[in-house]
Amino acid sequence: MAQPKYTLHPATIKAIQSGHFWVTEDQFSKKIPKHTTLFQGLGPNGKPVGIFHYDKEHPRVLARLLTDKLHSSVEDFIKQKLIKAFEKRKQMKLERNHYYVCFAEADELPGLQILKLADNFIIQYFAFFWEKYQEVIQQTIHENFETGSVWVHKRSLSYSKQTPPQLIYGKFDNDLIEEYGYKMNITLGEYYDYGVYTDMAAIRAKLPSHIFQGWVANLFSYTGAYSLYAAKKGASNVVSVDTSKAFLTMLEKNIELNDFKANFESRCQGAEKFLLDDETFNLIICDPPSAYTYKKKRVRAQDFYKKYILNLADKVEKKGYLLLFLNTHQVKPAKFNQLVLEKLKGFKLINQYSLADDCPTSKGFTEGNYLKGLLLQKV
Ligand SMILES: C[S@@+](CC[C@H](N)C(=O)[O-])C[C@H]1O[C@@H](n2cnc3c(N)ncnc32)[C@H](O)[C@@H]1O
Repeated sequence: MAQPKYTLHPATIKAIQSGHFWVTEDQFSKKIPKHTTLFQGLGPNGKPVGIFHYDKEHPRVLARLLTDKLHSSVEDFIKQKLIKAFEKRKQMKLERNHYYVCFAEADELPGLQILKLADNFIIQYFAFFWEKYQEVIQQTIHENFETGSVWVHKRSLSYSKQTPPQLIYGKFDNDLIEEYGYKMNITLGEYYDYGVYTDMAAIRAKLPSHIFQGWVANLFSYTGAYSLYAAKKGASNVVSVDTSKAFLTMLEKNIELNDFKANFESRCQGAEKFLLDDETFNLIICDPPSAYTYKKKRVRAQDFYKKYILNLADKVEKKGYLLLFLNTHQVKPAKFNQLVLEKLKGFKLINQYSLADDCPTSKGFTEGNYLKGLLLQKV
């Protein structure tokens, strides 16, 4: 069926042509009727630029580019794209049973992610029009994987609207995942997050093993994925720091699941406080949330780094390492490097990290390149 046609803003067209996917609100897109689903976007010269899907619910993104041309029904199109994304993951040799089988824009399914946690599948909607196609999405998952349970999760940008995923198929009785030779618990249906940030897992495998020696501190540890990894790779002592007692309890349960030689210690305190004494470490891992509240003040991760970068530096032993992450697309990789390297005179940059493997990025879509990591050594 032919789709209605709407002219898009020249700036949108330019962004689309350089690899972007989104239409936001402007004087052109405002004219698209709210009941629209699929439409053809036109350039100012009347030339078609692609088939878009309208999304009247999203707070910022009005429509997303699906494809340059639809050769079949939209359901068939979705199925083919999903199968392509699944096949890519099946060919990857990932030493873990939790990974994304579809990663939104990077798999040309903008706003749709599907996460596999052991045999549990979570369909994550970042664009809410995908709900309309839930049947074909669920069916394609069943046809391509063994599924213990399937969940849907509307991922809201607004903190106050965050709700847990909803079970739509099966039973949740497999609550363990494995990566790199150790196990971790996951929780589904109770919280917004699931007990592990899978987008970080590919980076772990790319880090040099020799940095995980002696005393390691894991700041903003959450349930301890990096603490477990450090222990597995040979750290003698692992100190995990987080302000949440609940997450540290989950971390301790994760430690109990495994048979590690390392000594573990959990400290329920702000990373800010931890950084003030003079105890030193061979490696400090630091992964703050993009924004968080500390002592009733809202803190952005980049501001945490600006304020505490020298404290981080002081707590590293000579020849020791800092592994710093920043989890927001609002600060570009070059800016993060500048922010850190300008102040860390006695350190050399060993490597830089970004999303990889099951979580690819796509050129021109800067919002998708949100995770950056820097490995530095004190010289
Ligand atoms: C993005 S998660 C870290 C993810 C973790 N690095 C991983 O890969 O699993 C952020 C964590 O920071 C913790 N947090 C928030 N504010 C904190 C603070 N001021 N000091 C220490 N931890 C904090 C939260 O409780 C949460 O567990």
